[in-house]
Amino acid sequence: MKQICVIGVGYVGLVTAACFADLGNRVLALDISEKRIENLKKGVMPIYEPGLEELVERNVRSGRLSFTTSYQEGLKGTEFAFIAVGTPSASNGEADLQYVAAAAKSIAENMSAPLIIINKSTVPIGTGDLVADMVTRSQPKPVPFSVVSCPEFLREGTAIADFMNPHRTVVGSLHREAAEQVAQLHLPLRAPIVLTDLRTAEMIKYASNAFLATKISFINEIADVCEALGADVKEVAVGMGYDKRIGPAMLDAGVGWGGSCFPKDVKALAYMAEENNVTPHVLNAVTKVNYDRRRAVAERTGQMVGGLKGKVIGLLGLAFKENTDDMRDAPSIDIAHHLAEAGATVRGYDPVALEVAKGLLPEIILFHDPYEMAKGCDALIVVTPWNEFKQLDLQEIKGLMNSAIVFDSRNIYNPAEMKTLGFRYRSIGRGFNGK
Ligand code: NAD
Ligand code: UGA
Repeated sequence: MKQICVIGVGYVGLVTAACFADLGNRVLALDISEKRIENLKKGVMPIYEPGLEELVERNVRSGRLSFTTSYQEGLKGTEFAFIAVGTPSASNGEADLQYVAAAAKSIAENMSAPLIIINKSTVPIGTGDLVADMVTRSQPKPVPFSVVSCPEFLREGTAIADFMNPHRTVVGSLHREAAEQVAQLHLPLRAPIVLTDLRTAEMIKYASNAFLATKISFINEIADVCEALGADVKEVAVGMGYDKRIGPAMLDAGVGWGGSCFPKDVKALAYMAEENNVTPHVLNAVTKVNYDRRRAVAERTGQMVGGLKGKVIGLLGLAFKENTDDMRDAPSIDIAHHLAEAGATVRGYDPVALEVAKGLLPEIILFHDPYEMAKGCDALIVVTPWNEFKQLDLQEIKGLMNSAIVFDSRNIYNPAEMKTLGFRYRSIGRGFNGK
């Protein structure tokens, strides 16, 4: 049994803490948010993530997982300290390292025994060196430590399964022994381990996210060409995906990528390139293709309803993707804004993100039921591909709407069935688009 401290109990930190506890380690999960820690002690989760509550509860009951706001308590007897705090975008696109810096300083001030400090947060290339420097400078008296980069690749909504079954574990450090200890900690996950240096590990994370975002922007561009020429992008993606060099993942065309990761990581990588005199041609195009889609969804809906002014448009789904309550850089925010700007009244429904949406979408009227929302709508837009939308009683929805118009920006419905049901239906990149 190893003793681990995980700093930050957000989407990554809490999952990391609960999973390491479940693997038999003793884990202290630490956060500066007293409210989050107080709630966790009462069994209240700070985020929605399928299966997390049960996993946390089980490991708290077994005594392997506990929570604290105190660095002194968190680091006592600990061999490994994982930093899993946020690294949001600063206004110039650069990653904002204030939370990582604050965590490094607190570790330095409170560590009393040798420690391996592991960056799980997604951090710009060179941050590991920065953390090492900061810890050295902030220690009241020298205590040995090593810095290791071990980026996280989990996805929200499937975070526990992703953590427990990674495609690979990346471990980067200039201290071979520390890297090997971190690798050992991950052995139960039975994934290939890439042992490398700090900077390369940091870059693997950015390059991976940027590549996945590129795949999505690529298929979205192909979708627009399919739509213009009468091909079906869903089948194109299936046909492409069988090629092992391409693979089937991240080829769902739609409204483009959002969330707390791809947007900020693509921006931060482009910023790093530019700062070092490399023009990020591909990353710039990937970003432009992505964000243009949000306006296009509003415009295409406008074409379907004969102008948005005075129309009532309902958004099915607000979270940036299904199975999460995360609204960071959710496409729904920009789509709602574009619709409202053009004079539409915007409504929204989401199975779990309504609370979070309240603060972020003051211009839209929120509903707790999709059928209630549909009453009197001139069009519905599917923004998030929640499973429950696939099973809606569309006949009933049609009867409730002012006009039977659906823009399916996630391709969850079958165009032929929508036509049979009597909808004016448009989706993304499929030969039949209801024109
Ligand atoms: P988050 O915003 O959900 O959680 C961050 C937590 O850190 C918050 O609870 C906050 O209170 C806490 N915190 C901030 N400063 C602190 C400090 N000084 N000491 C202790 N706690 C502090 O963030 P997240 O989505 O979990 O992302 C964390 C990092 O992991 C980011 O770098 C992100 O890019 C990366 N990442 C995220 C995901 C994801 O799916 N969300 C996946 C892989 C990697
Ligand atoms: C993404 C990566 O997939 C994770 O590997 C990574 O750890 C994480 O970012 C991170 O660094 O934080 P996540 O943002 O949770 O995970 O979700 P994804 O499932 O990758 O989806 C990202 C966005 O792309 C969503 O808006 C989703 O709707 C969209 N998407 C995804 C598509 O439009 N098409 C697809 O085929 C797949």
